[in-house]
Amino acid sequence: MNETVRGIKSKLLFDLNERMALSCICPLKETANRAVPGDGNADAEIMLIGEAPGKSEDLQGVPFVGAAGKFLDEMLTSISLKRDDIFITNIVKYRPPDNRDPLPKEILDCEEWLHEQIGIINPLLIITLGRHSMNHFFPDKLISEAHGKAYRREFPAGRSQTFYTLYHPAAALYNGGMRETLKQDFLRIPKVLDVIQSGGQEGDNS
Ligand code: URA
Repeated sequence: MNETVRGIKSKLLFDLNERMALSCICPLKETANRAVPGDGNADAEIMLIGEAPGKSEDLQGVPFVGAAGKFLDEMLTSISLKRDDIFITNIVKYRPPDNRDPLPKEILDCEEWLHEQIGIINPLLIITLGRHSMNHFFPDKLISEAHGKAYRREFPAGRSQTFYTLYHPAAALYNGGMRETLKQDFLRIPKVLDVIQSGGQEGDNS
């Protein structure tokens, strides 16, 4: 990808953030300090999608900068990636009060921005972090069964996308077994990417 296309993607994301700040209808906007639209490389092959901003993210306007973010950074390092190599965002763009789970309506209100981000970045692989993110794309799956597996999903307009589903780093942080499982699932990411890049069929269509 040349510099011009990269610049265009960054500009499109910048414009999207401006529009989101002005016209997002999510009621969480009223209680949050600021929007947390997303961060990273507009030209990334990998896009990670978490749940919702927490306290640190709400203060800084950047996703995954708290304890879960530090754990995520360690896992990225374990596969020789940095934040600058990926794009990271959440299904909900504003912090829910007291870090409660986002409500279905809040997820729906933020959906247009997430899907526009996916369209602009056009990643090879989307990694969902946690059940809320996974269930946004695969409502019937259980994270306990789906983690560490790749799936394909069709989007309107005929686009097909590969997903890889993981436990949420915050859930795994203080649970030894889940933490180890997440680290092992994370180590499979390069293999999943390789299969996609070689035109293989990583993932089922369920
Ligand atoms: N948890 C998330 O899901 N997203 C963040 O940005 C931070 C913590």
